[in-house]
Amino acid sequence: MRGKLVVGNWKMYGGLAANAELLAGLVAGCKPRADRRVAVCVPFPYLAQARDVLSGSAIAWGAQDVSAHPPGPYTGDVAGSMIAEFGGRFVIVGHSERRQAHGESDVLVAAKAKAALATGLTPIVCVGETLAERDAGSWQAVVSRQFDAVSAALGRETALIVLAYEPVWAIGTGRTATPAQAQEVHAFLRRQLARTGAESVQVLYGGSVKAANAASLFAQADVDGGLVGGASLLATEFLAIADA
Ligand code: 13P
Repeated sequence: MRGKLVVGNWKMYGGLAANAELLAGLVAGCKPRADRRVAVCVPFPYLAQARDVLSGSAIAWGAQDVSAHPPGPYTGDVAGSMIAEFGGRFVIVGHSERRQAHGESDVLVAAKAKAALATGLTPIVCVGETLAERDAGSWQAVVSRQFDAVSAALGRETALIVLAYEPVWAIGTGRTATPAQAQEVHAFLRRQLARTGAESVQVLYGGSVKAANAASLFAQADVDGGLVGGASLLATEFLAIADA
């Protein structure tokens, strides 16, 4: 039984005071449940704050990127061991905003996933097609290319990742994939996972998830939860999604 996982991606939002209020609201409202996990992935400077507030709560925390390298001369980068030292459990890799704005390649994303696992973090590997790619009928080719790079690098360790399907056209646009569209891609990804013996990997959906649409998305057979952007910045909204 795969269970559900709901992860908030704060992106580059937050501040000490706003975070304190948001985290306190999450701690107060998030009840532990055996069948689901909840986490937030925060900007690096707030990892210590997340640890201080969330330790002992039902909510795990993590980061939004990780270096492909162990500690060394890589100015501006953050090693997985540093995230782990602050109690981080998860790290997002290959988010489309990093693939696009930082030119991250499939190979680099795979190396980051490997580095995350090597430091005890669970990489949440994002895949997803652009609107042009969907309109061209090539979403299968895109998500399998992105996934294959990761499974080739990880081999049997692919079973240890979390996968997130984030159609680029649904991120921050208010335009959500329909439950049927999400299920179609998730079922496809599940078949890819099965080929590497990793069919029990959780596959999250991300892209304009809100309290109003979460239940219908999460009810799909192969949707194991969500990776939530904007709606994760409001405690009541995020908690409602986690409860969906
Ligand atoms: P939104 O939920 O704001 O559309 O963002 C989705 C996302 O990119 C999560 O990683």
